[in-house]
Amino acid sequence: MSKLRLHDKKVVVGITGSIAAYKAADLVRRLQDEGAEVRVVMTKAACEFITPLTLQALSGFPVATDLLDPSQEASMGHITLARWADWIVIAPASADTLARLVHGRSDDLLSALCLASESPLAVAPAMNNKMWENPATQNNINILQSRDIHIIGPGSGIQACGELGEGRLIEPLDLVAELVQLMVPAKLQGKRVLITAGPTYEPIDPVRFIGNRSSGKMGFAVAKAAIEAGATVTLISGPVHLPTPTGAERVNVETAGQMFDAVMTDIEQFDIFIACAAVADYKPELTEANKIKKTKHADLQLNLKATQDIVSTVAEQKTRPFIVGFAAETQSVLDYAQEKLQRKKLDMIAANQVGDGVGFAVDHNSLQVLWKSGSQMLPLAPKKQLARDLMTLIIERYDAKDSIKNS
Ligand code: C5P
Repeated sequence: MSKLRLHDKKVVVGITGSIAAYKAADLVRRLQDEGAEVRVVMTKAACEFITPLTLQALSGFPVATDLLDPSQEASMGHITLARWADWIVIAPASADTLARLVHGRSDDLLSALCLASESPLAVAPAMNNKMWENPATQNNINILQSRDIHIIGPGSGIQACGELGEGRLIEPLDLVAELVQLMVPAKLQGKRVLITAGPTYEPIDPVRFIGNRSSGKMGFAVAKAAIEAGATVTLISGPVHLPTPTGAERVNVETAGQMFDAVMTDIEQFDIFIACAAVADYKPELTEANKIKKTKHADLQLNLKATQDIVSTVAEQKTRPFIVGFAAETQSVLDYAQEKLQRKKLDMIAANQVGDGVGFAVDHNSLQVLWKSGSQMLPLAPKKQLARDLMTLIIERYDAKDSIKNS
């Protein structure tokens, strides 16, 4: 399945005269990685910094550089390109290019293309920091913004000229992340998504606990994918060593009991609940107040008590969110997952094999996703991509109102 996020987008990348022009080569690649079809237009100045041949090799198409070259205009002229493009992205955009856009110039190919196109335009400025701060440039930026042209960046840091300040082209990966946000409508805008992630630790005494090998990577990747889809995300995490995804509200917990309380606090506020956490099924009946001494016991028996099942409790609520559970199994993955889907009254379950270096604490995974009326295999992929694919499926089922209701 794995539809890339820009799989249906035709993008013209305009490159202008800036030392950052070399980064545009990477940008083209990254856009293609997301599935975009790319054509490149370069200004004369851009060709002084990087050759059209490089961009032709990367994009797989001749690079347009000239407005008045009959052969270029005959293949895909500025009007044809203007109609072809779903988006025009100028990166790097020099100070001169910004000024030309403000004035609606049309004496070179890129300016003429922008003037002739009704497609949305995004520009990523790159220039010396003094040029960027100059009121002329700042006024130009204000004017472009007032025309709904998207300005991305610039970043700040050391510049090619040796100065320190604002004016660096935003890094290609970050640029693509921003472009995806702009180009792909956020399907979960206004929705609240609650996600649990990571393991739980059930204390035996002040220094020992019962835990598991969950790293939290999948849950954190799912949180990121939900944010990318426009959701407001709360991430309830067991003990993990992972940075909070930008934009998520994070609640740290340690035990299954604490995770239960954190989930139930506001559960009726959420539209979707995704239970990624590997919650302990049992906890020691008693937690010793002091460290258990080995000298006192030849053998030691621990009495374990079942923890409360969080996801099942949420499923019993009268107004319940759309609920997605996970099933990490070492054997009979599909059978167990199917059984859990029904017994726990989930709307969807994502099942995967764990153990022997698969599933937990690794960066790749695959998932078999089941719901009442269907299933879908998400093949082995980096957890980041897998999380996006899973989110796409969740959104489809959620939109189809394919959820269980309690009367
Ligand atoms: O029963 P099992 O632990 O295999 O079920 C896995 C699913 O149930 C996961 O979605 C997990 O987050 C959730 N679960 C829970 N509370 C528990 C145990 C599991 O929410 N106490």
